[in-house]
Amino acid sequence: MLFNELKLYQRSKDFIWTDEYISEEMLEAHLNFDNDAASRNIKTIEKTIDWIIEKIPRDGKILDLGCGPGLYASLLAKKGYSVTGIDISQRSITHAKKKAAEENLQIDYRCADYIKEDIGTGYDAVICIYCDFGALTPNEQLLLLKKIHCGLSEGGTLIFDVFKTGLCDNLVEIRDWSYMDGGSFWCEKPHLLLEEVKHFLVQKTWGFRTIVIEEGKGPREYITWDHYYTEDEIKNVLNNSGFHVLSINNELIAKNDFTSNDVMFIESKKIVSD
Ligand SMILES: C[S@@+](CC[C@H](N)C(=O)[O-])C[C@H]1O[C@@H](n2cnc3c(N)ncnc32)[C@H](O)[C@@H]1O
Repeated sequence: MLFNELKLYQRSKDFIWTDEYISEEMLEAHLNFDNDAASRNIKTIEKTIDWIIEKIPRDGKILDLGCGPGLYASLLAKKGYSVTGIDISQRSITHAKKKAAEENLQIDYRCADYIKEDIGTGYDAVICIYCDFGALTPNEQLLLLKKIHCGLSEGGTLIFDVFKTGLCDNLVEIRDWSYMDGGSFWCEKPHLLLEEVKHFLVQKTWGFRTIVIEEGKGPREYITWDHYYTEDEIKNVLNNSGFHVLSINNELIAKNDFTSNDVMFIESKKIVSD
């Protein structure tokens, strides 16, 4: 539905992570270890890994949801964990598999949609890094938490990160258009770009919508969402889905040159009812 104002939690048919052209740009961004586009810079990734491994017994079985090209998964495998990585981007999974083979790492990479498809069971820990949880609608979050709960072993750990209110410092509402006479991140040929950024204050979420109009082709639309939370809000979300928050770390991200560094990492445990 192109001819409307962006509606809360509207989804687009096209998706940035699976689009044939954009996924190539994304992979390049993931693999640039100096910046924070698509994946965080390598120093932050290593610091995050050090924090994660304090929480999970060595030789444990870890599921990395939205593993991208496997930057965290490969570091965890090198530390001795048994790792499964799931990502919706075939391009990223193909790269991750190739890299694992080159490094002789046994990582179970799967191309799948973690909302719609099976994520497996028997994990000691599930991680989901770079604020991907907050990119889901509340319904999708509930579905995913249910699947993670089933996927974790008794006493299993869920670790993920979310934006805090500082996300709003970097954003303004926009309705704009521009003509790109060369290629851009969105399209390799000349194109018209329509952009909308909208803040849904009550739901504490930002919506981002880009429409690409390329000569001779139908318009393509890409919508994404980013929620932000207080500690109490994220604790509530988790408690309502059978998780107990053990710790919150607000200090892992020193800087971020792509999006907000106002992020908290949450370590939570699956609550098992008697
Ligand atoms: C911001 S990137 C983070 C990648 C990785 N966690 C990292 O920090 O390097 C988000 C990742 O989630 C994946 N993704 C988004 N929605 C997904 C879904 N429904 N199922 C599986 N993967 C998904 C994307 O393809 C992308 O690789």
